Amino acid sequence: MEMIIQPDAETASRIAARLVAKLVRAKPDAVLGFATGDTPLLLYKELARLHKAEGLDFSRVTTFNLDEYIGVEPDHPCSYTRFMMENLFNHINVRPEKIHILNGMTKNIPEECARYEKAICDAGGIDLQVVGIGADGHIGFNEPSSSLSSRTRLKTLTDETRRDNARFFANASEVPHDAITMGVGTIMESRRIVFLAFGRDKANIVAKAVEGPITAMVPASALQLHPDVKVFVDEVASCKLERKSYYQWVYDNKPEWEQF
Ligand code: PGA
Repeated sequence: MEMIIQPDAETASRIAARLVAKLVRAKPDAVLGFATGDTPLLLYKELARLHKAEGLDFSRVTTFNLDEYIGVEPDHPCSYTRFMMENLFNHINVRPEKIHILNGMTKNIPEECARYEKAICDAGGIDLQVVGIGADGHIGFNEPSSSLSSRTRLKTLTDETRRDNARFFANASEVPHDAITMGVGTIMESRRIVFLAFGRDKANIVAKAVEGPITAMVPASALQLHPDVKVFVDEVASCKLERKSYYQWVYDNKPEWEQF
């Protein structure tokens, strides 16, 4: 894992956006995996800015989102379809038919999950997947005890996740109990992973995910087994990392050819 510790979320998100932009310029038909939540908002804002200011072209890009709530219509204000449209897709030139988001209204969940896995495969796999981390260690909606080789499937949300996400809904009881999510195994097949975590509330779980044992109780810890993960954290989210000064030294002394 490569640790990129920056003073604040803005700076870290700008560097992460440059990494995504570099991939899209090198491979205009790249397959990008996106996440929802507060964490990637600044990254999406910067990608939109790069599109507008520098003509970063998403017209051949294909996208897949990590997850979606069960029972939430795509145009519901809290759906992840709506989130992605408002925070990214409406601001770049991605083609609607190239956007893939799980259908939380499906009548046949196993079929929807199999369809999604096949669509990822047919697109040639995900080149770069953006992930955040939940306070309980989830990636996507893979809650603690998720199999580390799981595929896209139904997951029941923990009380902690429902409480954390209640801020997006009119009241806490409206937060769905279930979601469909790419599995940990699905995420692990992405060729590169951009892992973002910002804020003091994430410090404990970031330390567990990066430096703790690999365990299904912290699904994000599976990323330690992935060969190409860049972890972008702000100062406060990095404060529980035991080897923080080592990571900082490595990053500050990267040879120029490795920089992005
Ligand atoms: P957040 O959620 O970005 O809103 O903190 C992250 C997650 O649950 O994966």
